[in-house]
Amino acid sequence: MSDKTYPPAPEFAANAHVDAARYAEMYKASIDDPEAFWAEHGKRIDWIKPFTRVKDVNYNFGDVSIKWFEDGTLNVAANCIDRHLATRGDQTAIIWEPDEPGDDAQHITYKELHAEVSKMANVLKNLGIGKGDRVVIYLPMIPEAAYAMLACARIGAIHSIVFAGFSPDALGARVNGCDAKLVITADTAPRGGRRTKLKDNVNQALLHDTTDVKCLVVQRTGDQIAWRRDLDFWWHEEAEKVSADCPPEEMSAEDPLFILYTSGSTGQPKGVVHTSGGYLVYAAMTHQYTFDYHDGDIFWCTADVGWVTGHSYIIYGPLANGATTLMFEGVPTYPDAGRFWAVCEKHKVNQFYTAPTAIRALMGQGNEFVERYDLSDLKLLGTVGEPINPEAWNWYNDVVGKGNCPIVDTWWQTETGGHLITPLPGATAAKPGSATLPFFGVQPVILETESGKEITTTEAEGVLCIKDSWPGQMRTVWGDHDRFQATYFQQYKGYYFSGDGCRRDADGYYWITGRVDDVINVSGHRMGTAEVESALVAHSKVAEAAVVGYPHDIKGQGIYAYVTLMSGETPTEELRKELSDWVRQEIGPIAKPDLIQWSPGLPKTRSGKIMRRILRKIAENDYGSLGDTSTLADPGVVDELIENRMNRG
Ligand code: WT7
Repeated sequence: MSDKTYPPAPEFAANAHVDAARYAEMYKASIDDPEAFWAEHGKRIDWIKPFTRVKDVNYNFGDVSIKWFEDGTLNVAANCIDRHLATRGDQTAIIWEPDEPGDDAQHITYKELHAEVSKMANVLKNLGIGKGDRVVIYLPMIPEAAYAMLACARIGAIHSIVFAGFSPDALGARVNGCDAKLVITADTAPRGGRRTKLKDNVNQALLHDTTDVKCLVVQRTGDQIAWRRDLDFWWHEEAEKVSADCPPEEMSAEDPLFILYTSGSTGQPKGVVHTSGGYLVYAAMTHQYTFDYHDGDIFWCTADVGWVTGHSYIIYGPLANGATTLMFEGVPTYPDAGRFWAVCEKHKVNQFYTAPTAIRALMGQGNEFVERYDLSDLKLLGTVGEPINPEAWNWYNDVVGKGNCPIVDTWWQTETGGHLITPLPGATAAKPGSATLPFFGVQPVILETESGKEITTTEAEGVLCIKDSWPGQMRTVWGDHDRFQATYFQQYKGYYFSGDGCRRDADGYYWITGRVDDVINVSGHRMGTAEVESALVAHSKVAEAAVVGYPHDIKGQGIYAYVTLMSGETPTEELRKELSDWVRQEIGPIAKPDLIQWSPGLPKTRSGKIMRRILRKIAENDYGSLGDTSTLADPGVVDELIENRMNRG
């Protein structure tokens, strides 16, 4: 990692919302008196009944409770739409770019957004959805995904978006997990020139214990689909029956806005719960400051609304700020590796926010795909999801940004609702690979991994925790507050535990070193190794499986599976493919193992615990330093695994 610094250009800093002096002053104020700081910034959104209490937080294990702006009431959709109507009703709220470059893009104004969202809200009501009910959204990146989120927010229903790349089983588990009454989907979804059969997936997901769940279907392609009579409804037909006026529901600040499932180190994914007031304040404020968003700018976050990045930085943050936000249905490499840059040129994008994995993949395709396009409207670049390696950072900076665009490397999580550690582009000198410094109100601490003692020297390395709360923090795990406390507040008492390892350098800059739990980061997406293992052992030919991450050039981490077959089964190439496809079907394409090693035995302690440390080393092709193997029940197993290792790169 390089320690070269890139200070903000003076012209950029001069026009930025926050320069270095202002950052120092605001950060200090936010830590010295958080109540006063957030009382002030809480006013950036419209409250129906203003809050009088700012913060009520208890991090003590056993009594964890997090509340912000508790006695205030508001409506999130009204904040994202209605309050802009008087001043920017005819401004574009959403630019939609379809999968096929030849198809027409859409420009949806705030007025049109208001009408569409109100109609969908009325349709939801007609389908029996009300305040507090859960609605699963399983949609591609089409404007109706935004309408669906905001329609839920408008009537106080809680949405839970399931990424359209997830399998029917994963979808079914999430519908069940929150007792959803309704799924909103599309017939089929074009992406990268191929089509996903979303409605068929929904039918399969709802086959068993959720047969009374209704489904609202957006007609995206007109492809043939199977219809469940009395339970399925076309959006375009229902929309004709309702008015375009739907008064927003008055919600309390702490009413849930959405649930979003994310992988953990154990068991099933957990439903992260975000509430209304604090989340919106935090998403909007980070969107404005981190990206230095100014009125009239065109903002593009390339994430999918199925991930938290899409929630906070395609929909809620930008729309709360009255921004123009771009939604892209396709993929970076269709029809070719120039698509991102073609879209930037076409829509005159000013801020562009993507993941290091996409940057690495495009970098590998050569500069000509970038150089073909006029990128002179770009003012700022951002990254999210995983640490960015200096080569990719330099390419992004030189080839995409032409050396003129600050890069913000934003560290955050599904749980945090918005950026926690990030440069502010007019204030912070960037160092390639570092997420740099904390956002306002955020107090990162580095703890000794074993003892949990806080390391108070500037230079430090250990686990990353956060000392106090911020408004965008998750409040609970849906239906399982104990799991919430156990995951984030038990191991290191009195802190929020992020699950990440981290180094702080002599300048106080934070460098994320990766997860310290059994979670791997594949292309910026979190995958629990336990989830992949349980999918593998569910296959009738598999006796045992252990899954670890290993370094992957494009994805950051790849999925490496050690599989022990049932006795009598023969390891073949076909079986390898069968198992890969099986996992893909059980969870989704992102969970598909990159490498499967047949392992007649796994290294275990005498008490039967798999020694993952050893499996990780072998997968990393770093088997020379396996450390202490004396506690293994059968040390011979290790030699066999090394001999037949799959990653020799
Ligand atoms: C995990 C959270 C938050 C949106 C995307 C992922 C890793 C995230 C960075 C970054 C290094 C990063 C961490 C974190 N991560 N951003 N800028 N530098 N690592 O959300 O799926 O909840 O994953 O992604 O390991 O814990 P998520």
